[in-house]
Amino acid sequence: MTQPALDFVIATLEKIRESTGRSPRASRSVLTQLQAASPVAASLREAPASLVERRLQPASNKAALLEPIRERVRVCTKCAHLASSRTQTVFGVGNPDADLMFVGEAPGVDEDQQGEPFVGRAGQLLTKILKAMGFAREDVYIANILKCRPDTPPGSFGNRAPTPIEMQTCRPYLVEQIEIIQPKVLVALGAVAVEGLLGMRGTMRELRGRWHSCNGIPLMITYHPAYLLRNQAPSEKRKVWEDMLQVLERLERPITERQRNYFL
Ligand code: URA
Repeated sequence: MTQPALDFVIATLEKIRESTGRSPRASRSVLTQLQAASPVAASLREAPASLVERRLQPASNKAALLEPIRERVRVCTKCAHLASSRTQTVFGVGNPDADLMFVGEAPGVDEDQQGEPFVGRAGQLLTKILKAMGFAREDVYIANILKCRPDTPPGSFGNRAPTPIEMQTCRPYLVEQIEIIQPKVLVALGAVAVEGLLGMRGTMRELRGRWHSCNGIPLMITYHPAYLLRNQAPSEKRKVWEDMLQVLERLERPITERQRNYFL
């Protein structure tokens, strides 16, 4: 790119920022290309708070930081058996700047097909829970301990739980995601998420409804939505809702009377 062209791009981005009051989005790769294209920009790159860095700061730096991890996950073959059986990896979805992050177990058949976590029946229930809390899926971040669907014998139905080795192998990706997103609150959905995040095993009856800490981030444990699909007792639904009320309180979100009395 020539210097006048680069100046034009920078001026346009600045205009967008001035008119919208927000930093325009620019991916890390675009930023790198712009810097590489201009001798001026390239020299500025050395400085920590360079002009170009400041001018082209992406709206969400976290989104840009997640991209290389997404790419590593996309081509990951650490678990050869999962790499060969998966349709695609399922990295995570939602707002990288979210205050609230949910962690589930592993993609199921629907997630494996669509490349997005929690889109099947359990996911629809999670979306309903989020809505009752006052969130859209786009407001929070959702990921799993495993990025690949655990393989199952041909012709069999259902999902299988991740093995400890699969969890150990995949965990570093999730840790990186959490480190970048730095949510104010994490929610572990079910025992596998608890084991993956905290290395703790126990019954959900003992674990849920209490605050834990995951690398300094408050973590609430609750039942996996798939459990609620299997066990439709109002008392179990109420427990999950009480856990979510604790989450809302921790996030200092106002809670309406209707929400307090809500039953999922
Ligand atoms: N269950 C999970 O734990 N994660 C998904 O993404 C879907 C179902």
